Amino acid sequence: MRLNVNGKDYDMDVPNADTPLLWVLRDYLGLVGTKFGCGIAQCGACTVHVDGNAMFSCSTPAAVVEGRSITTIEGLADEDGTLHPLQQAWIDHDVPQCGYCQAGQIMRAAVLLEENPNPTRDQVDAALSPNLCRCGTYNRIRTAVLAAAGGDIEA
Ligand code: FES
Ligand code: FES
Repeated sequence: MRLNVNGKDYDMDVPNADTPLLWVLRDYLGLVGTKFGCGIAQCGACTVHVDGNAMFSCSTPAAVVEGRSITTIEGLADEDGTLHPLQQAWIDHDVPQCGYCQAGQIMRAAVLLEENPNPTRDQVDAALSPNLCRCGTYNRIRTAVLAAAGGDIEA
């Protein structure tokens, strides 16, 4: 199997065609920023980008995304190390609590800002609704997304 992840091509032997992308990312490529939460497409901890769209990597067979462009949280910053505005906003606003859901939250938020650079609070909430946070950091997540977008975080 050949996958393109964070701009690099990787060739690997994967046991079967149903092996989830999440397993390949974490166990074969060592990209452990993407997390295993529920494993059944219900929590969003495993969210990555495939051709710029947010996808649950736990429920996506790796074979399905051969030849497509996959981005994980490790590939979101610029090559020179400059953080994505969302990553900087997450730091500035101390968003994480336990942190487990946060990579998925950022990846989904990045898709939102690509599609809608100036979202409203309600649009942020709606776009991120597939991603759960058991620590309840939703207010800080919303604030950080609005800040990254350059919007009014108090509005
Ligand atoms: S681990 Fe994939 S959606 Fe929960
Ligand atoms: S920060 Fe703990 S699950 Fe979201």
